[in-house]
Amino acid sequence: MCGIIGIVGTKPVTERLIDSLRRLEYRGYDSAGVAAQVDGKLERRRAPGKLRELEKVVEANPLVATTGIGHTRWATHGGPTERNAHPHIAGRVAVVHNGIIENFAELKAELQAAGAVFESDTDTEVVAHLLNRELATGLAPLDAFKATLDRLSGAYALSVLIGGENEVILGARNGPPLAVGYGDGEMFVGSDGMALGPFTNRIAYLHDGDYALIDHTGAKIFGPDGKPVERPITILSASAVLMEKGNYRHFMEKEIHDQPEGCQRTIAAYVDPITSRTKVAGDIDWAGLERVQIVACGTSYIAGVIGKYLIEKLADLPVDVEIASEFRYREPSIRSTSLAIAMSQSGETADTLAALRYCTERGMKSGAVLNTVESTIGREVDVVWPIHCGPEIGVASTKAFTAQVAVLTALAIKAAHARGKIDDAEEKRLVRVLLEAPRLMQEAIGLEDAVREVAAEVAKARDVLYLGRGPMSALALEGALKLKEISYIHAEGYAAGELKHGPIALVDEATPIIILAPFDSYYEKSASNMSEVMARGGPVVFITDPEGARHAPPGARVVMTAPESDPLISPLVMAAPIQLLAYHVAVLKGADVDQPRNLAKSVTVE
Ligand code: AGP
Repeated sequence: MCGIIGIVGTKPVTERLIDSLRRLEYRGYDSAGVAAQVDGKLERRRAPGKLRELEKVVEANPLVATTGIGHTRWATHGGPTERNAHPHIAGRVAVVHNGIIENFAELKAELQAAGAVFESDTDTEVVAHLLNRELATGLAPLDAFKATLDRLSGAYALSVLIGGENEVILGARNGPPLAVGYGDGEMFVGSDGMALGPFTNRIAYLHDGDYALIDHTGAKIFGPDGKPVERPITILSASAVLMEKGNYRHFMEKEIHDQPEGCQRTIAAYVDPITSRTKVAGDIDWAGLERVQIVACGTSYIAGVIGKYLIEKLADLPVDVEIASEFRYREPSIRSTSLAIAMSQSGETADTLAALRYCTERGMKSGAVLNTVESTIGREVDVVWPIHCGPEIGVASTKAFTAQVAVLTALAIKAAHARGKIDDAEEKRLVRVLLEAPRLMQEAIGLEDAVREVAAEVAKARDVLYLGRGPMSALALEGALKLKEISYIHAEGYAAGELKHGPIALVDEATPIIILAPFDSYYEKSASNMSEVMARGGPVVFITDPEGARHAPPGARVVMTAPESDPLISPLVMAAPIQLLAYHVAVLKGADVDQPRNLAKSVTVE
């Protein structure tokens, strides 16, 4: 939830730290800070709010050094104030931290009883005091660091400066990711490849329990037992380095428009356009599988729900999709003849990781549909099914969502064929349908002008209801999530069939109703629901396709016509209108589209 960077450099470090924090702001932006050694003394600059506030502080009071650490925060313990902003300093120690020190209260009490004076409400500050106390006993930095880590329980990615130990940074990881970057005569440590992208494309991820001493010559990495370990250096993909908005106002806008291309690249990795056959990695015995268990959070969970509809319908394979934070604690019954699939853009979502581990510890085979392959989830599954949409920076997930759905669609076709539910000819037909999706998605983005007009009305609403049936009921959930998370308007997504079981009481003139209904087997029922809400004065925005528009009951405020598409890919084709609606409403409301309040891109804490 926070972003960390450390540089053992040869050039002025402060601007470079801030440049890296700018690439990390998607992980949290409640406050930011940097620390460096100046003439052997630790100096710090911090500011609450966005990174630009820190830049003002640094401009007014420059920090001149070549080695330093930086942090951008998503507040867990202690409000988003300056005194809670990282780096935290105690004596000779400056520390930045991502995660939660779960035993910080007892450690804080112990340290205060010994005379330590705390300046913040954070859990992180105990690390600085603990390490400072270990150093005061005369331990060498690395031994003092190890002794400190042995006292911590919980999740942490740490980067530490020690006063007097110039040009050295200590790093440690237990849970949230931490990567070491290898430069030419310079070394780096950061939360992920994107943070290090401006400096190097050679990175090695620390594993849980690892700690390291990093200096100009390289990194000495040690495992939890204190013995030296080697961690492989991988070459960062160019995409993690190239992350610009182009001529779009927001990353989210760019990412919505990038979807056809992102899905094209993704689909190309799962089907052969020449033979029209699927090509899905992993030795999964689809024919012998008893069940699939999908675990995920947020938008990734919703992609999983769409996958359930597709896989069950095509492959006659039972699929359970569960919110990871519920699944991991309810002690679900597990069968080793099932396949666990984790869905995640970041590959670091704590609840999803924990739910996955619950399954794998009980013998389930596991796969993950991921955008960040080099991630904790990526390292723990039997097979990774990557999406190829490039780094997603906007906190609200869009291109990763449709790319995830595209992968699940390919898996559904693969499983159906492997289980003998479809023959070669049908597999080829469905693959060709899937190959059509990017073009139709591009056409659906062409609805943007109509969406912009609807956004002007929706922006005035206090509540909005999204309705759909079948896979469109999942898209209704996604439309509502997008709207609420970036425009802060309350919205609910519902299976349209549930309308009369409660939500219809919400219908009034002031509550826009967004109904998603392509002309498919659910259409007639959705059209009836539409009449029911219009009869009660509900202003309906009807998103359908040409045949659905021709059969639409009269009275909708707006009918938006997405391109006609096979039901297999209608979730892909109908996604852009609801994403664009949320985007334009948020822009009209002046919301911070790419970095909505209270949110972060990767939820690496429970
Ligand atoms: C989506 O718009 C949200 N930002 C959020 O729900 C996100 O999908 C969720 O936190 C899961 O993240 P992940 O895909 O990285 O696991």
